[in-house]
Amino acid sequence: MVNLDRDTEQAPAGVLCVRGDLTDDAQVREGIARAAELLGGIDVLVNNAGIGARGRVEDNTDEQWTKVLDVNVMGIVRASRAAMPYLRESSHAAIVNTCSIAGWAGILDRAVYQTSKGAVQALTLSMAADYVSEGIRVNAVNPGTVDTEMARGHINAAEDSVAGLKLMEERQATGRMVSPQEVAHAVCYLASPLATSTTGAFLAVDGGMHGLRVKGTSQAISTGNYPHWLIQK
Ligand SMILES: NC(=O)c1ccc[n+]([C@@H]2O[C@H](COP(=O)([O-])OP(=O)(O)OC[C@H]3O[C@@H](n4cnc5c(N)ncnc54)[C@H](O)[C@@H]3O)[C@@H](O)[C@H]2O)c1
Repeated sequence: MVNLDRDTEQAPAGVLCVRGDLTDDAQVREGIARAAELLGGIDVLVNNAGIGARGRVEDNTDEQWTKVLDVNVMGIVRASRAAMPYLRESSHAAIVNTCSIAGWAGILDRAVYQTSKGAVQALTLSMAADYVSEGIRVNAVNPGTVDTEMARGHINAAEDSVAGLKLMEERQATGRMVSPQEVAHAVCYLASPLATSTTGAFLAVDGGMHGLRVKGTSQAISTGNYPHWLIQK
C-alpha cells in the first residue's frame, strides 16, 4: 500500500508514503506514477482524502465552495484518471471512494460538504457504469460520524464540546462514533475479490445513522413517555 497525502507525517509507521496535493494535477500524476513504481502496478485505488466544512447555503464564500469541491470531488477525478492506465493492467481492479452519510441524508449546517458528497455519490455511479466493461469495479463507503480529526474538529468548534461529543455519538443508532478501522474494513471488503459482483454500490458504515429510527425509544419507554399503543408486549 502507498499513502498519497499532502501531509505524510501523520501516516502510521511502516506505511509507504508519497507526498502530493490532490488539488494539483501534476502532483497527483507524479504521485500515482511513483506509487505504481513502488508497488509494481496498481490494483486498487482508494479515494479517501477529503476536507470538511460547516455552513448553510448562504454562509460560505465562493472560495470556500470551490476549495471543498476541488479537494472532495476533483481530487477523486484527478487521482482516478491518473490511476486508470495502471488499473487497466490489473486482473482485479477496484476503486473505492469515501462518500458519506451526507450523500444520502440532509445534515444541519453542512451545505458545501454535503454537496461535495452528493457529487461523489453520482460520480461513483458514473464511473461504475463507464468501467464495468473493462472489469474495473467502482464502489463507495458511506461512513456515519467517524472518530477522526475531522469529527474532533467539529466537536471542538462547538460552544460546549462535551455536549458536541454527545451529539456526535448519538447521531448513530449504536450510540457511539464509528472507528476508522471499521471504515477501513469495509473498504477492504469492497476492494477485495470477495466483492467481484459488487459495483456501483454504497456500503453504509454508519452505526445505523441513515436507516434506523431508534433514538429515544428505549429511554422513552423506561420513563413512561412512550405512547402505550406503540409498546408491543
Ligand atoms: N470523520 C467523519 O465523521 C467522516 C464521515 C463521513 C465521511 N468522511 C470522509 O472520510 C474521508 C477521510 O476523512 P477523515 O475523517 O479521516 O478526515 P481527516 O481530516 O482526519 O483526514 C483527511 C486526510 O485527507 C488529507 N487531505 C486533505 N486535503 C488534501 C489534499 N488537498 N491533498 C492530499 N491530501 C489531502 C489530509 O492530509 C488527511 O490525511 C473524507 O473523504 C471525509 O469526507 C469522514
